[in-house]
Amino acid sequence: MSGAPLRSLLFVPGDSERKLAKGLASGADALIVDLEDSVAPERLGFARGQVLEFLQTNVASAAPELWVRVNSLASGRLYEDATAVLAGRPAGLVLPKVDSYADIERIALTLEAIEAGNGLPVGSTALLVIGTETPAGLLALPSYPQAAAVHRASARRLAGLTWGMEDLSAALGARVRHNPDGTLRPVFEQARTTCLLAAAALGIAAVDGVYVDFRDADGLRREAEQARGDGFGGKLAIHPGQVPVINAVFTPSAQELEWARRVVAAFEAAAGAGVTALEGQMIDRPHWLLAQRILATAAAVSSEAS
Ligand code: COA
Ligand code: MG
Repeated sequence: MSGAPLRSLLFVPGDSERKLAKGLASGADALIVDLEDSVAPERLGFARGQVLEFLQTNVASAAPELWVRVNSLASGRLYEDATAVLAGRPAGLVLPKVDSYADIERIALTLEAIEAGNGLPVGSTALLVIGTETPAGLLALPSYPQAAAVHRASARRLAGLTWGMEDLSAALGARVRHNPDGTLRPVFEQARTTCLLAAAALGIAAVDGVYVDFRDADGLRREAEQARGDGFGGKLAIHPGQVPVINAVFTPSAQELEWARRVVAAFEAAAGAGVTALEGQMIDRPHWLLAQRILATAAAVSSEAS
């Protein structure tokens, strides 16, 4: 996987030439070119062709990374979607409505055949999994880390996990997502938290879900700040206007960088000690890890900008 940051990942309907062009100029770290819910079934054939052409034209340029959301395994359309776009060498595929790790294993085997058929290195297509769109999928997420330890080849493809409420709501028949105070109803909080925990246990990126009210920048900023505070590394976007807000929230601030550098320096000065002090506060390995994470994100952001 590349060292590029994944702060903002902007969905772009794969059948819209205009939005594809806008997406390129949006400043997003990644585009998720969509063949699933935002494309009407009768437009899918056209969209597949257009997405391939878009990839072939733009995939070599430095930013943004180009991902494709294919249809789910259960839809019966995934094989044709993947066959249509893999020759364009997307950074990876986004998998919707995943029901279990067994889905990922099956999809990974299918991709091996398609990669080999296109002369691509087998295993080169990364996967970003939307793990909470079906009730079965949410219940299965806690088993991913153990399954990944057994199925090494498919696990190496996993780049990140994300979550969503729209399809889960529909599957549950849920009409309400938030409490009056704005916090999530328990089932959706469970989806969010389980996604975060599973991603951390797998050692892959945790990406927060979409904020659908795309004209409400303040609400988006609040939600993104909460996500970052909890450990998510980035957030999905559905509109170009959301990208700068998300990028800003997920970029380490000058103060955070300063703190991280001081933590690292304090450990260096303490030569080998597992615990030391910084300005009257105890710091130990968890602080060192957080400092490393902040420095790594900052380095990725600045290498992308250069
Ligand atoms: N990617 C790229 N460009 C986008 C965009 C997106 N996701 N969303 C909007 N734009 C473009 C519009 O085409 C428009 O450009 P134009 O003035 O050159 O035509 C500009 O940004 C402003 O758009 P705006 O008028 O504010 O929004 P809209 O009413 O055209 O579109 C949505 C609203 C929700 C339909 C649109 O944002 C969208 O398609 N989002 C992605 C939906 C999606 O992929 N969903 C699946 C995952 S949940
Ligand atoms: Mg959906």
